[in-house]
Amino acid sequence: FLVDKGNFRHFMAKEIHEQPEVVGHTLAHYVDFAAERIVLPDLPFDFRDIERVTIAACGTAYYAGLTGKYWFERLARLPVAVEIASELRYGDAPLAPGNLAVFVSQSGETADTLATLRHAKANGQHVVSVVNVPTSTIARESDVVMPTLAGPEIGVASTKAFTCQLVVLACIAIAAGRARGNLSEDDERRLVRALTEVPRHMTAALALEPEIEKLARDIAKSRDVLYLGRGTSFPLALEGALKLKEISYIHAEGYAAGELKHGPIALIDETIPVIVIAPHDRVFEKTVSNMQEVAARGGRIILVTDPQGAKEATVESLATLVLPHMPASVTPMVYALPVQMLAYHAAVIMGTDVDQPRNLAKSVTVE
Ligand code: G6P
Repeated sequence: FLVDKGNFRHFMAKEIHEQPEVVGHTLAHYVDFAAERIVLPDLPFDFRDIERVTIAACGTAYYAGLTGKYWFERLARLPVAVEIASELRYGDAPLAPGNLAVFVSQSGETADTLATLRHAKANGQHVVSVVNVPTSTIARESDVVMPTLAGPEIGVASTKAFTCQLVVLACIAIAAGRARGNLSEDDERRLVRALTEVPRHMTAALALEPEIEKLARDIAKSRDVLYLGRGTSFPLALEGALKLKEISYIHAEGYAAGELKHGPIALIDETIPVIVIAPHDRVFEKTVSNMQEVAARGGRIILVTDPQGAKEATVESLATLVLPHMPASVTPMVYALPVQMLAYHAAVIMGTDVDQPRNLAKSVTVE
């Protein structure tokens, strides 16, 4: 069938705006809304027997995996190793048979991810894949396929596939938490309700676009941009930096906010925009103190937070983007949107080929 840009200038813009809808579809696949329960396909293993989870992927899907680690560890008390597929495949990580390996891939054809899946299988792992193309090789070779229902993604820089991957990983982590007795039925209800609200919060996030477009003008003038976050906002800082460099060709780095003092602080001056992703969660105070360190050196802060965070952040910032209040379990899905829009508008201003950035391919089927 034909996929067109609709009223959008680029596929990427269209795909960013589709997120409330496709995240809704993906949720509907894993959630019984009436019972407020997670429903997974039948699994050939019991989460109580799993001692360790390995998540492997490339690019943006790897950052989805990094976010998933926080959920598995918190909700299911399962230790997780997140690996870059091309590293795991040639590394010496011992994979004890009977454990779980999760592969995350939009295309389901990424050569390194596929090779790593085969390596995991040969090492006796149960193989679950989170893929957007259900007919793909990775899907076919997995024990269990957990599809993302993002629909065809055309823009080379992944957007809607990423947020759908997050939704699926969160659902698996909740199901694992229940199966392992770490979450009560009430906990599950509460978490499911939070997920159900995600599409609505995403719509609110999209409404920030005019403000973000203005900020992108400032970003487009910069040579380097720094993204900071803690906890589940850390992988989002990495993803924000990746998105910006992929499509605008502006150099960017994502850092765990706590690592600021171990290196990137040396770069801070008044020419560097610092994007701080900081919902008012249990690590918010800590991130505020990192922001103060940036502000003291003249760094220009763009804070992405919620109403409480905006009130309590005692830092002079260039701009504050305020998202709705939401439970900490779902901030990564929603906070991804301003980060994507900032990269998109910076690229449009730079005049790059947004949907087909130079040197990049949508699906990397060679090593
Ligand atoms: C390429 C794409 C990225 C994607 C990565 C992994 O680098 O440009 O957007 O995240 O491959 O692709 P996959 O299909 O495995 O998710």
